Amino acid sequence: MSSFDQIVQLIADDLSAVEAKLTENTASEYSFVDMAVQHVVEGGGKRLRPILVVLSAKVCGYEGKDAHTLAAVVELIHVASLVHDDVLDEAAIRRGRETLHAKWGNKVAVLVGDYLHARVLSMLVARRADDPAMAILADTTQAMCEGEVIHAYKSGDFDIAEAEYLKIISFKTGKLITASCTLGAHLGTTDPQQIEALTIYGQQIGTAFQIVDDVLDFTENPDKLGKNAFGDLREGKLTFPIIYARSVCNDDEKQMLEKVLNPNTDETEAIAFVESLFQRYAVEVHCLTVAQHYADRAKTALAILPQTDACLALQQLADYVVSRDS
Ligand code: FPP
Ligand code: MG
Repeated sequence: MSSFDQIVQLIADDLSAVEAKLTENTASEYSFVDMAVQHVVEGGGKRLRPILVVLSAKVCGYEGKDAHTLAAVVELIHVASLVHDDVLDEAAIRRGRETLHAKWGNKVAVLVGDYLHARVLSMLVARRADDPAMAILADTTQAMCEGEVIHAYKSGDFDIAEAEYLKIISFKTGKLITASCTLGAHLGTTDPQQIEALTIYGQQIGTAFQIVDDVLDFTENPDKLGKNAFGDLREGKLTFPIIYARSVCNDDEKQMLEKVLNPNTDETEAIAFVESLFQRYAVEVHCLTVAQHYADRAKTALAILPQTDACLALQQLADYVVSRDS
């Protein structure tokens, strides 16, 4: 059994409760709304963010049901962001299913994303108004939007620097992963050191997660990935591996790279060129090494926490984020 499956098994009851919360809190009495919403809510995925909420709460000594609500809340924010992201990226497949906009059009997809946000607000309001979750999630959602806007604005900017890109991904992906850990910590403790440790852990694995996500776009089998391969390339999207390859290749290759990132270039030619460039400069190894550094920093941050099963699971999860193939 993989370390990820073991973690899922360790908290299987919590995850079933989260699934129940997801279903119960997103149901609509209008059948088409319900069908469109459940298409994405039941769409699977790894449920990484709920796992992080539950484990972060446990490692801080919390075993109650509120973790399930917050886990469902972060997953719904994530699902809403993916529904919108797939509109922006014109992606056809997500989590092994046709994307919402491909099935029912952009209008339905945008509105289902909005609907999920409305549900998130209701779920938060039903909790305590003085809860730090409100401020954390408001800030998180804002940063995710800012990250995506900057990324969209920068698309086609070949000079984007690695540091700038890392900032974008810390917003668009890192913020929600970080919030998952911070929210879980708040459930179990008021100790600022423990909360800070889990926040740093989340920030570090968030960046590692997106770097690996960028690599998998080039290297992984689409069936495993649950989405089309080379999606970023086809869109001309500059991601971590491309930014690195561009920084180490020669001028001729740089020119060719800019040409193949133009969506009008023949796809087979583009893929063949990028694959050869990746081989020549060992791009995958470099990116995974960088991602592993982030995962290692995440694990180091956990040192001040009680060394329980939940803590061990968080350590394993950091490595899984880098070694995963989907
Ligand atoms: C996937 O990135 C997308 C994100 C991590 C964030 C998307 C955020 C928004 C659309 C802003 C709006 C936010 C909300 C909460 C509605 P990717 O395209 O690199 O990954 P992919 O390959 O999985 O599509
Ligand atoms: Mg996308």
